[in-house]
Amino acid sequence: MRDATGTVAVVGTGTMGQGIAQVALLAGHTVRLHDVAPDRAAQAAEAVLGRLDRLVDKGRLDAEERAAAAARLHAHTGPDGVGDLADADVVVEAILEDLGAKQQLFTALEQVVSDETLLATNTSSLSVTAIAAALRLPGRFVGLHFFNPAPLLPLVEIVSGHATDEATAERAVKLATAWGKTPVRCADTPGFIVNRVARPYYAEAFRVYEERAADPATIDAVLRESGGFRMGPFELTDLIGQDVNESVTRSVWDSFFQDVKFTPSLAQRRLVQSGRLGRKTGRGWYDHTPGASRPEPHTARPCPAPEYAVPHGGLGPAAALPALAAEAGIALRTPAATAEGPTTPGDTTRHGCLELPGGALLRLADGSQPRGREIHFDLALDYRTATRVALAPADAASVADLAEATGFFQALGKAVSVIEPVPGMIVARTVAMLADFAADTVGRGVAGAGDVDTAMRLGVNYPVGPLRWCDDLGADWVADVLHNLHREYPTGRYAPGRSLLRRKGAES
Ligand SMILES: NC(=O)c1ccc[n+]([C@@H]2O[C@H](COP(=O)([O-])OP(=O)(O)OC[C@H]3O[C@@H](n4cnc5c(N)ncnc54)[C@H](O)[C@@H]3O)[C@@H](O)[C@H]2O)c1
Repeated sequence: MRDATGTVAVVGTGTMGQGIAQVALLAGHTVRLHDVAPDRAAQAAEAVLGRLDRLVDKGRLDAEERAAAAARLHAHTGPDGVGDLADADVVVEAILEDLGAKQQLFTALEQVVSDETLLATNTSSLSVTAIAAALRLPGRFVGLHFFNPAPLLPLVEIVSGHATDEATAERAVKLATAWGKTPVRCADTPGFIVNRVARPYYAEAFRVYEERAADPATIDAVLRESGGFRMGPFELTDLIGQDVNESVTRSVWDSFFQDVKFTPSLAQRRLVQSGRLGRKTGRGWYDHTPGASRPEPHTARPCPAPEYAVPHGGLGPAAALPALAAEAGIALRTPAATAEGPTTPGDTTRHGCLELPGGALLRLADGSQPRGREIHFDLALDYRTATRVALAPADAASVADLAEATGFFQALGKAVSVIEPVPGMIVARTVAMLADFAADTVGRGVAGAGDVDTAMRLGVNYPVGPLRWCDDLGADWVADVLHNLHREYPTGRYAPGRSLLRRKGAES
């Protein structure tokens, strides 16, 4: 990985520029840093070398390599143009996120670098096509979208604009690979892959909160401990910055001509307006001031385990539950052995449910509002390893019904969070929407299915790529959840896209 040759110029030496420079430097390139602000490039060079020193201290880089890298690093500062970058084979731009400034920079660069120089932008929200519009040779221009911190995160989105030559995109893929990164290819659309497909992860959680169905700590805990996500959306956006996260959401929404699928959250808007931007201001969804205690998720008190459960038909993605119940000592009875007798043919009310001795019906969240004595339970990535399960009782379910349902999951070793009855609960609606967004991204030719899944696993740490997850759950089940959600909220947001429906068709 340390034998790359040629000169890489990094223009804009803030957070991203420094990270990208470190990656290129350690790959073996000569690196030229340029920044418009006086002394900024020299300070950035110092910062990069400081990081190399820390790698030496940790034994991850030897002193000789550090010295050789230092000799290959050059800082060029000032507003007097980019003339010092004339010998660059590759230019990666990481200046402020402003279309005019980026266009102006690349127009100036084109006058000094060779016609063979690869020109790349690290923009996260602007159109690669629009930045290249002013260029004499737009075919050699490409998006090279790194994630922060660039030295640590492996994903790079290689974004082809309207005029990008195929050879340019392939060259960028080779470059990113030589830098030890995992490149994925995509077309120039709002949010590229990650920032487009990830929108529902935040939006669904914020909606559940806005409907007062659960508090942030509970929603975060359920997505972590049941959904298998590394961080919940509330804690994650407090880390990212509410202003930064909201501005990505608004930019993608605006770029899609305010499509209802991408509508931002009013609750997050208020947070930004009030200056509660997350950890950086000491307060966001949570209080981060020193000594502040973190609110606990709702966790039900211990309840006795039911003696038995009666599965009525298959439980779909929750098919593992009867076996887990049996392992936990809860007897499984067939419908014929219940007091009410077998489920009469045509009686669909109990189909797909686990019936408990008191008569409560446990049903996997399916996007509908729980009815009668139903208690919906949320989707888990893996019911065997999940440490928490959320329950949503229908209005007519009694306190005793809920206690029995709680005892059932507690007997399986799960913490139980009780939330208000909200269609699709937390994990089920989130995963169904992620699958829909991912399928739509593939269906519109933005990226291949493998690249979408890789991008979401590596870019935002999802436990499984959303398309693979969709296939594991069954596109039928995902489409049913979305159809049901669409019935509950007929705005169009939840209407399953054609690509998801075609995936379902391909399955049957
Ligand atoms: N920060 C992130 O998490 C992140 C992630 C991926 C992509 N990006 C994108 O990377 C780019 C840079 O973001 P950042 O967070 O590193 O910004 P930053 O504010 O940390 O750094 C920007 C640097 O560019 C310099 N600059 C501004 N105009 C310039 C010009 N005309 N010529 C030369 N230098 C100029 C500034 O002086 C500053 O040092 C943006 O396009 C952003 O959207 C950011």
